[in-house]
Amino acid sequence: MALMTWKDEFSVKVAEFDGHHKQLISMINNLDEAMRQGKGKDIVGDILKKLVNYAGFHFAAEQKIMQQHEYPGYADHKDKHDKMTAKVMALQNDYQSGKASLTIEVFKFLTDWLNKHIMETDKKYSEYLNSKGIK
Ligand code: FEO
Repeated sequence: MALMTWKDEFSVKVAEFDGHHKQLISMINNLDEAMRQGKGKDIVGDILKKLVNYAGFHFAAEQKIMQQHEYPGYADHKDKHDKMTAKVMALQNDYQSGKASLTIEVFKFLTDWLNKHIMETDKKYSEYLNSKGIK
């Protein structure tokens, strides 16, 4: 995969969250680059550590704004965050127990996060939050 760059189509129209999502793209690129050099395994532990922190920090930030503005899709969105958090924790447990082929799984998880969660779920809040003055 060629290095991924930020595109307008990724924007959720809230600058703070676009900023957070750019960090996700950076993790995808770091892992992709390492995999192409045959060094994916060397950094997958570090990526997972970052991902656990990132998920906690980013999901809490989105949920706080959604709750503050009584976003109607809050419960569904939080449920998706909870499932992704559980998946990140499971990946980390697998890493700690030495499971093989984890690098590809983590890579797929990251790209799904971008292509599915951001593009499908996050984008649903754009118009609502913008209408509340959050941009
Ligand atoms: Fe940007 Fe709902 O995560």
